[in-house]
Amino acid sequence: MHSKIFAAALGLFAPANALLRFGCAQSSVQRLDPLVNPGQIPSSHLHQIIGGNSFNVTMDPAKGFDLVQKSTCTSCQFSEDFSNYWTATIFFRARNGSFMRVPQIPQQGIESTKGGMMVYYMTDALFDNAQKSKVTAFKPGFRMLIGDATIRTRDQARRFRQLTYICMESQANRAPEYIGFPPMPCKGGWMVNHLFPTCWDGKNLDSPDHRSHVSYPESGTFESGGPCPATHPVRLPQLMLETVWDTSKFNNKNDWPADGSQPFVWSSGDSTGFSSHADYMFGWKDDSLQRAMDSSCYVNCPTLKTQSISQQNKCTVPDMVKEPLDGCK
Ligand SMILES: *[C@@H]1O[C@H](CO)[C@@H](O)[C@H](O)[C@H]1NC(C)=O
Ligand SMILES: *[C@@H]1O[C@H](CO)[C@@H](O)[C@H](O)[C@H]1NC(C)=O
Repeated sequence: MHSKIFAAALGLFAPANALLRFGCAQSSVQRLDPLVNPGQIPSSHLHQIIGGNSFNVTMDPAKGFDLVQKSTCTSCQFSEDFSNYWTATIFFRARNGSFMRVPQIPQQGIESTKGGMMVYYMTDALFDNAQKSKVTAFKPGFRMLIGDATIRTRDQARRFRQLTYICMESQANRAPEYIGFPPMPCKGGWMVNHLFPTCWDGKNLDSPDHRSHVSYPESGTFESGGPCPATHPVRLPQLMLETVWDTSKFNNKNDWPADGSQPFVWSSGDSTGFSSHADYMFGWKDDSLQRAMDSSCYVNCPTLKTQSISQQNKCTVPDMVKEPLDGCK
C-alpha cells in the first residue's frame, strides 16, 4: 500500500478533490501529554510534538482553552493549522544498558525541516485518484487518541488498524511493513505510520478513553469507502501521520543484543512496537480545514496560507519539564 501512497505523494496522478500532505517541524520533545495526562508534569512518557505553540501541560476546552487563539505560530507548512500532533519517542538500548534517543529525519523534498512529521488529511483513499467523497472537518475542541501505550501483544494490537512500521531500504523504497518493531536492521530507518479512525459520533469532542467518540467504518475500510456505523455516522477526513526515525546509525549488529532480539524501545518502555500510539488535538483556524477538504487541493492547497520551512523551524514550545532527554525513558 505504501508504495502506492508514495507514488500519489509525488503527484503521479492528479485527482479532482482534497488530499493535503504537509510537513511539520518538531516544536518540542518533552514529557507532557495534555490529552491523557492533563496537568501532570512529567507525563508518563516522553513525546515528540508538532503544530501550534500553545501546546501546554493542560489544554482544556471546557475551561475555554482555544489552540487557535492561544498560538502565535505553528511548526506546520499550512500556517492556519495550530493543531497539535504527537507520538512517543524511540530509544536504542545499547548492550551496556544505556538508552540513546533515535533521531527523527524529514522526508524527501522537505529536507531542511527540523525533525517532525508528515501530516495527511484525505477525503478518500490516498491511492484512489478520484478523491471525490465528502468529509466533515473536526470541530473546535475535538481531540482523539489512536493506539494504546499499554499494549504488548499482536493480538491486542489487532483492535487498531494501520499502525505500522516500514523497514525502509531508502526513502524511495518503502517496504516491508510490520505491526511490531522490524526485527532486522533497516538501512533507510523506519517510517512509523498512524492512521486515525474516520467516523465520529457527531456529538462528543472527546471521550474518557479519548477513542470511543470515534470509530472505524462499520464494514470495509475508509480506503474501500466502507460506511460509518449508525453510532458514529459522521465521516471525518482520514488523518495520517508519518514519522521517519533514523535507526540506521544503530545498525551495527555487534551493538544488538547477543540473543538476536531487536534493541529498540518506545519511550513508554515497550520493546515490541505493538504499543504504537498517536494523539491529535484539532486546531485549524476558522473553517480553513473544511474549505480545504471541499476544494480541489492535492498535496498543495491554494485555498490555504503557507509559510516557509525556516518559519516552521522557528516555532518552538519551551521546555516545561526540564529533564535530560537521553538516557531516560
Ligand atoms: C502554559 O500555561 C501556563 C498557565 O496557563 C502559562 O502561564 C504559560 O505561559 C503556558 N506556556 C506556554 C508555552 O504557552
Ligand atoms: C554504551 O554503548 C554505546 C555504544 O553501543 C556507546 O555509544 C555509549 O557511550 C556507551 N555508554 C557507556 C556509559 O559506556
